[in-house]
Amino acid sequence: MVMPNPAPARGNVYTHATYAHIIGWGMAVPERVMTNDDLSAIVETDNEFIFQRTGIRERRIASDKESTATLALKAAQNALNIADILPIELDLIIVATSTPEYVFPSTASIVQNWLGATKAGAFDMSAACSGFVYALDMAAQAIRTRSITTALVIGAETMSRILDWSDRSTCILFGDGAGAVVLRASSTPGGVLSTILRSDGSGWDSLCVPGIGSRDLTGGGIEPNGHKPFRMYMDGPEVFRFATRVVSESIQQAVSNAGLKLDDIKLIVPHQANVRIIQSSARALKIDESRFMVNLDKYGNTSAASIPIALVEAVQQGRLKENDYTAFVGFGGGLAWGATVVKWGSPKLKVEDRSLLKGQRRQLSYTFAGVRTRWRKLVKTVTDLFERLRPRTGRMKRLRERVSRL
Ligand code: COA
Repeated sequence: MVMPNPAPARGNVYTHATYAHIIGWGMAVPERVMTNDDLSAIVETDNEFIFQRTGIRERRIASDKESTATLALKAAQNALNIADILPIELDLIIVATSTPEYVFPSTASIVQNWLGATKAGAFDMSAACSGFVYALDMAAQAIRTRSITTALVIGAETMSRILDWSDRSTCILFGDGAGAVVLRASSTPGGVLSTILRSDGSGWDSLCVPGIGSRDLTGGGIEPNGHKPFRMYMDGPEVFRFATRVVSESIQQAVSNAGLKLDDIKLIVPHQANVRIIQSSARALKIDESRFMVNLDKYGNTSAASIPIALVEAVQQGRLKENDYTAFVGFGGGLAWGATVVKWGSPKLKVEDRSLLKGQRRQLSYTFAGVRTRWRKLVKTVTDLFERLRPRTGRMKRLRERVSRL
């Protein structure tokens, strides 16, 4: 699927167009660091093999108290701080993840509740390591068509929970973390300019996690192809070949759809899977490796979270400035891939939008969200009790309805 270029090619001016700008960004990673040496105590491997074949030195691993939703929440709060907006201003929350909190409800709904984003719709995006690029495009499209004004797009994963810790060809590669961006409508040209999304499902079993999908629950056992249920299986060399091919192709297409040339792109923020994939993509594009953001040495492959985490660190390192063009490229399970071109730099918010005490009001929103959830549970318990004592009292029904509207 090739998206029509929504942005004016250089030189053209569209009137009354709406653009989707990134106005906030944030990340969160667990504190626990697992080095390559730590891994060599778990499987037969060593630092030299891992670093030479992948570029990874260490990764973060979630504690028992952390989950995809808790990491997503922290990344989201950091992004809202930078954007300096309130949770109630959000119209849409998308969490791109392959390790959701539950099958349902969506992790996005959980985050929506914890933020107190009571006016937002929420859903999860399943497109594996390309999930963030897919989700960003869905949110940007909704903004451009004026269906919404403000969206929160999160990539969040706890890959450590689905790794086969006895498989040295996969457990060395992945880590946990989350990254988020806030998108907002503006009439200033820029923001998300073009996106290309692609999939080749014939490669579905090169990278998969058998589990509780309808295929796995048909009574024939839950181990298709002999893979372990709830554990990641990957044909590493096959995925490597696929990735090196699609990264350069999709970047070139997205750049051309934006009416730009590769030379216009200041920084490419790729999915952080393997430094050799990035090096080979740089060679294919005939550009210097330094134009790619790389931080996989610290975090490994965090799947849908890797692009927003790398983006946040690129901004913190001053590698993106106002009006720079940047490209994000994702690839992985599906097989699916996608690339997007963004003009960096958020239009200045109007002065009245930056009202006083927004930081305190955000904190209040998070606190009130927790109180609200507990209050609703309490009311449900009490009304259930009364209903059992005095069945079908209209008053109880009405009370519950009123409380559920709070
Ligand atoms: N430590 C030590 N040896 C290892 C090892 C490890 N962690 N993992 C694999 N090996 C061994 C293999 O057993 C094999 O040994 P053999 O030749 O005696 O059979 C040898 O290394 C080569 O295996 P191979 O799988 O061909 O290695 P490789 O050079 O392709 O590197 C990957 C393996 C996984 C690093 C590489 O295939 C890769 O990065 N693929 C892409 C993965 C990826 O990025 N996936 C996510 C996309 S979203």
